[in-house]
Amino acid sequence: MYDFRPDHAALAKPELYRQLHAAVAALTEGEPDAVANMANVAALIGEFVPALNWAGFYRAIDGELVLGPFVGRPACIRIAFGAGVCGAAAASGATQLVADVHAFPGHIACDAASRSELVVPVVRDGEVVAVIDLDSPELARFDAEDAAGIKALAALLADRI
Ligand code: SME
Repeated sequence: MYDFRPDHAALAKPELYRQLHAAVAALTEGEPDAVANMANVAALIGEFVPALNWAGFYRAIDGELVLGPFVGRPACIRIAFGAGVCGAAAASGATQLVADVHAFPGHIACDAASRSELVVPVVRDGEVVAVIDLDSPELARFDAEDAAGIKALAALLADRI
């Protein structure tokens, strides 16, 4: 059993992301199976990061994004590069921090409860190989510290997924 038991209330965000990073590093260390690693990372993000209704991966396959392991409600399976928040991250290679998804042109509503979203590309050898997607039912849930924390995870995972 892996029981990391993060104490959200007591942890400042940088420390919470430091602990999440350490847990992800430990749990994916030496494991070559990408699906297993993405599944555990989605679960860890769900345990460590409060106020989410969805957290997981889309993988870049043959020029489109395909749903990967996640925690949350069932989601759209395929997203074109450039479509929605995930597609924007994949097409540009840039992190998307969206305070109000209703104000984002082309946002794809997989769960009507989602109000804000953070999408971070995972880049390997200059190519986007996946995106990490976090959704929250709270408006403006994510800030630069969340983006920095998830970017650090994306860098760690580039050759583990
Ligand atoms: N909202 C995303 C789609 C993925 S779901 O949030 C899981 C988007 O606009 O790309």
